[in-house]
Amino acid sequence: MAKFPELVFSGVQPTGNLHLGNYLGALKRFVEMQKTHPCIYCVVDLHAMTMPHDPATLRRTTREVTAAFLACGIDPKKNAVFNQSRVAEHAELAWVLDCVARLGWLNRMTQFKEKAGKDRENASVGLYNYPVLMAADILLYRATHVPVGEDQKQHLELARDIAQKFNNDFAAGIAERGYGDGFFPLPEPLIQGPATRVMSLRDGSKKMSKSDPSEYSLIALTDDPDAIANKIRKAKTDPGALPSEVEGLAGRPEADNLVGIYAALADESRTEVLARFGGGQFSAFKTALAELTVARLAPIRAEMLRLNADPAHVDSVLAEGARKAREIAQPNMDAVKDIVGLIR
Ligand code: TYM
Repeated sequence: MAKFPELVFSGVQPTGNLHLGNYLGALKRFVEMQKTHPCIYCVVDLHAMTMPHDPATLRRTTREVTAAFLACGIDPKKNAVFNQSRVAEHAELAWVLDCVARLGWLNRMTQFKEKAGKDRENASVGLYNYPVLMAADILLYRATHVPVGEDQKQHLELARDIAQKFNNDFAAGIAERGYGDGFFPLPEPLIQGPATRVMSLRDGSKKMSKSDPSEYSLIALTDDPDAIANKIRKAKTDPGALPSEVEGLAGRPEADNLVGIYAALADESRTEVLARFGGGQFSAFKTALAELTVARLAPIRAEMLRLNADPAHVDSVLAEGARKAREIAQPNMDAVKDIVGLIR
């Protein structure tokens, strides 16, 4: 496989309030990646249409997620920050990749099964097709690295399968045009750190999720310090003390989750956290965790609120980001059209 220049791409859906899982699994990692890589960060508004949605809410949440990107420290001057629908090539490439992906591959996608629920016949075709659009997002830029939470692993594997099949199916035309043995890189998921799967504060067996009906299950990035402290105080735990070693977290999902959250916020490992808090009661640990969470999230919340009051600025960031994204997307889409035989 040819060597591709390293480029990071990732996306976040503008559905509901972003939470601590989104921050630790994705946004915090996005900020770290921009120190070492060129990055493209996308608010995936087309994906947010795959479930029933309200147009006015979609407009608002698209701006709010953009504000969250900026408030967390993503630099829109250095990177492209934009909303997906602005760059028409995402949808265009998705169609080409629809014709590459196999039905059997999509039938295995667990997120579709979860989201469609029992009434699968009534799910939107877009929801079924969601992972192909996601592959198009990444491959459109020929991105090599994709920071995501654990829940996106299967979608990333599909993106790699689609890239590989495209490279194989059109190998002759790809080589003829000087792209060596592959036009698309096989994008690598970056699922790293102590909090790649942050769990609900109410139930250590369930992922922290925007769609959870219990507000005590998640910490929203817009929660004020009192709400954060209250939710952490009420977080479910077990009756034991904190273990002194990581092995002692086995079979204790709630304890493991809180220690993982602390570790990620403090930029430490679980081992380091337990060296300090091991042997102690949860109450003392929860107080420390609440303080740390407030210290990390309060500045982000303040900046989000400031940006939410300045939609003109947010819109200008999105417009400029889309312009930069198109500069990469358009020539790549032209090349795809040539490779597959579409006259342009
Ligand atoms: P979305 O919008 O559901 O979530 C955004 C990011 O947050 C991560 N995440 C979590 N990480 C840790 N713990 C959790 N409880 C948790 N919940 C969510 C997700 O893994 C994700 O990284 N399909 C994607 C959006 C997307 C995308 C892309 C991502 C569309 N195109 C291309 C990467 C590349 C999604 O629904 O993320």
